[in-house]
Amino acid sequence: MFVTIEGPEGSGKSSVTKEVVKLLEKDGEQVVLTREPGGTPIAEQIREVILNKENTAMDPVTEALLYAAARRQHLKEKVWPLSKEGKIIISDRFLDSSLAYQGGARGLGIDYILEMNQFATEGYYPDLTLLFDIDPRIGLARIAANKGREVNRLDLEKIDFHDSVRQTFLSLAKRFPERFVILDASKPFDEVVQDAYHAIKHKLAQCK
Ligand code: TYD
Repeated sequence: MFVTIEGPEGSGKSSVTKEVVKLLEKDGEQVVLTREPGGTPIAEQIREVILNKENTAMDPVTEALLYAAARRQHLKEKVWPLSKEGKIIISDRFLDSSLAYQGGARGLGIDYILEMNQFATEGYYPDLTLLFDIDPRIGLARIAANKGREVNRLDLEKIDFHDSVRQTFLSLAKRFPERFVILDASKPFDEVVQDAYHAIKHKLAQCK
């Protein structure tokens, strides 16, 4: 099963997901947690180029192509082989981040980014996508309060950009209702962990 974790900056998705992995492992599931952009050495090198704060001249299409290239490498080298072994693969961000950030917020268009990613993914979609929904004002305030977290090039975008990311994610959840589950990420941490855990367990029961 392939699960993707999506949401705006500071939604808490990464910390929540780490706790959910522990719960699934306690249940005896074999889980691999990975992330995009990255997840393999080559894709992590592409990540460094994309998120480098000095790369202010990066063209939006170049940015989208680099995310797609990192995605391709991640799928080929990690996600597809592991899914053949019957593992639960959970990826912190995937295709929908490209649709929301490059397609929506950068204005390149959802269908344009979908088509571009077709080369990378060969039409491979997640079984389940958890959308950690939160007002970006709350998310960005959390990041500012959490000094241990590094600020990247996309965190530095204006609030309109982040509002557009959120709205695009919500529109994607409407467009792909069969795989999206929306979680209220403004709730207390432990509650969000439980909501995410139950959504994955529910899907697992359907898949088995
Ligand atoms: P990261 O530090 O992992 O952020 P977060 O903790 O919020 O997930 O950086 C990933 C950044 O890349 C994040 O700002 C979202 C962005 N992104 C895209 O714009 N398009 C994509 O396809 C992906 C996977 C990420």
